[in-house]
Amino acid sequence: MSGRLYALGTGPGASDLITVRAARIIGKLDVLYAPAGRKGGDSLALSIVREYLSDATEVRTCHFPMSADNDEKALVWDETAAALIHEVEQGKQVGFITLGDAMLFSTWVYLLARIGHPEWLEIVPGVTSFAAIASRAQLPLAMEQQSLAVMSCTVSHQALAEALRAHECVVLMKVYGRFAQIKALLQHLDLIDSAVLMAEATLPGEQCWRDLKSVPGDQPLPYFSTILVNKQWRRQG
Ligand SMILES: C[S@@+](CC[C@H](N)C(=O)[O-])C[C@H]1O[C@@H](n2cnc3c(N)ncnc32)[C@H](O)[C@@H]1O
Repeated sequence: MSGRLYALGTGPGASDLITVRAARIIGKLDVLYAPAGRKGGDSLALSIVREYLSDATEVRTCHFPMSADNDEKALVWDETAAALIHEVEQGKQVGFITLGDAMLFSTWVYLLARIGHPEWLEIVPGVTSFAAIASRAQLPLAMEQQSLAVMSCTVSHQALAEALRAHECVVLMKVYGRFAQIKALLQHLDLIDSAVLMAEATLPGEQCWRDLKSVPGDQPLPYFSTILVNKQWRRQG
C-alpha cells in the first residue's frame, strides 16, 4: 500500500465527538503523531483518540514550543513536516491529530504550509470547540441575517472591540489569562448579558458561566476557555 498522511481533527474533547471517518482511519494507522502541551507531557488529543487506536500503531508525541522565538518554532515545524513526509515515503499510513478542527487556530496549518498539497494527504474535519460550546450552552452561534466573527483574544483590545461592534455574533477564543479585560470590554459595550463563558467543553471538567457579571475578573480559567456572544440572545432574568 502506498503511504498516506491524514490530518485528523479530534473534536473538542469527548471521545465520541470525533467523526466516524477519523475513528476508522485512526484504527488503521501505522504511526500516529500526537501534539503534547509540554515537552514529554501528556497529549489531550491522544487521550481523546486512544480508544480507537490499534495495538500495532506506533505513537509519537511531539511538542510545539509556544515561545516568542520564531526561529525555534519554525525549526520544530520544519523537522516535524520532514518526519511526516519521510514516514509517508516509506509507505506508512501516518496520522497527525489536532484538537477540534485541524484548520482552525491549529499548529497543523504550519505543517500544511511546508508539506503542500500532495495527493497522499487527506485532512479530516473535526467538531470545532465553538460548535460544541454552542450546543452545550444551548446558545445559537448565528441566526437569520446575523454575521459571525471568530476572534482570538491574543489580538489587540481595539480589534476585539471592533469585531464586537461590527458583528452580531462573536466567538472569543484563547480567553485564558485575559478574562478581566474581556469582561470589562463586554460590560463597556453592554454585551455582558449576551455572552456565555465555557471552559473545557465536553470534557469531565466542563464549566459554564451564563452570568458573566458575577464571575470575578481573577476567576482562574483553564487554557480551554471560550466566550460566545450573540446580541439577539440576551440572558433572561
Ligand atoms: C489553539 S486553539 C484550538 C482550536 C481548535 N482547533 C478548534 O477547532 O476549536 C485553542 C483554543 O480553543 C478553545 N478551545 C478548544 N477546546 C475547547 C474546549 N473543549 N472548551 C472550551 N474552549 C476550547 C479555547 O479558546 C482555546 O484557547
